[in-house]
Amino acid sequence: MKRITEGVCYIGVNDYETELFEGLWPIPEGVSYNSYIVQGEKTAIIDTVKILFVDEFLNNIEKVTSFDKIDYIVLNHLEPDHSGSLLRLLEKAPQAVIICSKKAKDMTDYLYKITENIIVVGEGEKLDLGGRELVFYMDPLVHWPETMVTYDTKDQILFSCDAFGSYKALDVGIFDDEVNPDEYFEETIRYFSNIVAKYVKYVQKAMDKLSGLEIKMIAPAHGIVWRKNPKRIIDLYIDLSARKAQPGVAVIWGSMYGNTKQVVEYVVEGVKEAGVPVTVLEFSRHHLSYLLKESWKNKAVILGIPTYDGGPFLGASYYLHLMKRKNLRERIVGFFGSSMWSGRALHQAAEQLKELDWEVIEPLLEFRGSATKEVLMQAKELAKKIALMTKE
Ligand code: FEO
Repeated sequence: MKRITEGVCYIGVNDYETELFEGLWPIPEGVSYNSYIVQGEKTAIIDTVKILFVDEFLNNIEKVTSFDKIDYIVLNHLEPDHSGSLLRLLEKAPQAVIICSKKAKDMTDYLYKITENIIVVGEGEKLDLGGRELVFYMDPLVHWPETMVTYDTKDQILFSCDAFGSYKALDVGIFDDEVNPDEYFEETIRYFSNIVAKYVKYVQKAMDKLSGLEIKMIAPAHGIVWRKNPKRIIDLYIDLSARKAQPGVAVIWGSMYGNTKQVVEYVVEGVKEAGVPVTVLEFSRHHLSYLLKESWKNKAVILGIPTYDGGPFLGASYYLHLMKRKNLRERIVGFFGSSMWSGRALHQAAEQLKELDWEVIEPLLEFRGSATKEVLMQAKELAKKIALMTKE
């Protein structure tokens, strides 16, 4: 439990047990499920936590108030990392009324078979807590269709649920001025690209809508509370949702016998000569979560893809599929890779990325067996050219 303002407390929990968030995305530094308690004359809990941590969550609540004093449970989002402890909380506080969107009401039925004691709220509707007021804004598809955000008019806190959230548990502090916010910044980008990116159109709509609010603090459902510099995270979200990337190159490669690998150092050298940041990742050794993040973050990607079974190396195939699933558009891309008796892997990959409006920079450096000195030099030149393009 941690006090945020006189009437608002943090009552969330850290999860260091889950290996893969959503069963998909690695969280080596854990994740937090943030919940808040807002007290006026009446009391509201904003979101719950994953069921695995319900006992700790209920303990946190008891440090602030007794269960019979809870009037409302606001459900911004029904995904079980936020709604999972609802039934157990209602056992303790059966009088509490659920506040949620219309679509969320259906989901409380699907997930928890709860159909009563629910108030459905719509865009801009208010809840008077007595000396404090909560306003609800619909935020569909950031991250599910029922999602909304809650705004506390008194302290000007936006309880934004998944929006502005990040991986990484709150092990040092809960505020951006208590931790190194840069660490959470990188994990916000990864979280965004993994979880929210598919719905950028809706993120942009939400950002437009919220731009009229005076926001002193952003209190998301994962990661730190931005009280010192909420503008920083808002600006990041504006850029991410516009797929605006930074000058920089992600070099992502795979290799079976070292022939494609031998080109990597020349590619990296080319990027460095252009004075542009470079990140190097390997299809087989780095999780897609990180490949996606770096592709979202950087303006250019250079892919080292050997031919495998007459097509792109398997790790690269998964990567290409993910770019399509997440609809990552408009990156600059170059290719290199070894083939033996059958090539075309690079052409196949290029065609897939062109469908996403990626700008494919020629030549596609596909070579037989090991690279010649000429290929190595071409790779370096190609990388430098691409890196310089990211500065434009
Ligand atoms: Fe953190 Fe969409 O749940």
